[in-house]
Amino acid sequence: MKVLVTGGAGFIGSHTVDLLLEKGYELRVLDSLESPVHPKKKKPDYLPNNVEFILGDVQSKDDIERALQGVDYVFHLAAYQGYLTNFGKFAFTNDGGTALIYEVIVQKKLPIRKVILGSSQAVYGEGKYRCAEHDIQYPSPRSSEQLERGDWEIKCPTCQQPMQPLPTDESKTSPHNQYAVSKHCQELYALTLGKRFDIPTVVLRYSITQGPRQSLYNAYSGILRIFASRLLHNLPPIIYEDGEQLRDYVYVGDVAAANILAMESNAVNYAVYNVGGGEVLSVLQYGELLSNVMGKGVTAEIPGEFRFGDVRHIISDVSKIKKLGWQPQTSIEQAARKYIDWARKQPEISDYYAAAEKVMKQEGVLKTVRR
Ligand SMILES: NC(=O)c1ccc[n+]([C@@H]2O[C@H](COP(=O)([O-])OP(=O)(O)OC[C@H]3O[C@@H](n4cnc5c(N)ncnc54)[C@H](O)[C@@H]3O)[C@@H](O)[C@H]2O)c1
Repeated sequence: MKVLVTGGAGFIGSHTVDLLLEKGYELRVLDSLESPVHPKKKKPDYLPNNVEFILGDVQSKDDIERALQGVDYVFHLAAYQGYLTNFGKFAFTNDGGTALIYEVIVQKKLPIRKVILGSSQAVYGEGKYRCAEHDIQYPSPRSSEQLERGDWEIKCPTCQQPMQPLPTDESKTSPHNQYAVSKHCQELYALTLGKRFDIPTVVLRYSITQGPRQSLYNAYSGILRIFASRLLHNLPPIIYEDGEQLRDYVYVGDVAAANILAMESNAVNYAVYNVGGGEVLSVLQYGELLSNVMGKGVTAEIPGEFRFGDVRHIISDVSKIKKLGWQPQTSIEQAARKYIDWARKQPEISDYYAAAEKVMKQEGVLKTVRR
């Protein structure tokens, strides 16, 4: 059985490749080696030699045709991520690429057994909340005026009182930024075209994924890599808003296991599953955990800034995928330790945050609270 992994030279893709190889599958990777993940445009050393590698782009129909030849299963993980304002790139890469995969499968009548799409909990936007008086709410994004006042919490749309964030299940989406919209559209293409043309398809919505190989070069997103690269240089992690934002985190090996479960189980076809770690920490607590793991004792800095497009709290409800027998195996702390061990062995660990911060400020993504 041959499996294609788009974005297989990346973080989640390469761990999925490793697990598939262990299970005896033949592997092909289609990856354009995008910066800042691969700044030297070089195939990463961690990709084994017995993996067929195609340097190509999911936006190219020719590259997709080549990559899909003779393949049984497809993991579609290549994506453009982040917060920058090149909205077109999110749509062309994420949505264009997904539509093209189905276009080629249908036009060439390829006998693909299943497509597994790597989506994100970002599609939930602010997710699910409970108001003490008005019960369950799915709130809209906070306005820039609210954020500029440094007023962070989500309020009930009816009584304006603060609400309690709840674990968000798969039933309701509300994407709030360009990345989330593009991931949601990917899902719509995949599930709609999959069902319409009998191409079994599964969508997995990953929570913040962590572990070795999460590129140190990309300082635009990814709390672990950004905080770790600051701490490795004895610099304090920079915390946006007030640091009380709640998030759940999942280990990359657990994501790879969920990917393979989705591929091998027929019960999951045309369904959507959250893949999260079940453990919740605030951003401040996360910074402390990492500082302790690294033995740094550095206190985080809270400069009164916010990243426009961030959600206040998001926690995925993973009860649906747990019913399939999947269970996260690695704690947040263990994942952080594995990442730090890996990062310390990397030949070049500059602090890339300063450059990313400058671009985010220029583009109006990183904003300052008006005091
Ligand atoms: N890492 C997370 O926390 C997280 C969370 C939720 C969802 N996801 C999703 O999981 C998937 C994998 O994410 P990751 O963290 O491994 O990202 P990554 O950036 O490490 O890997 C993505 C890979 O895709 C490749 N790529 C990008 N654009 C491409 C294109 N046009 N053509 C071909 N290849 C291209 C890159 O070169 C890279 O190797 C993405 O779809 C992402 O949206 C990731």
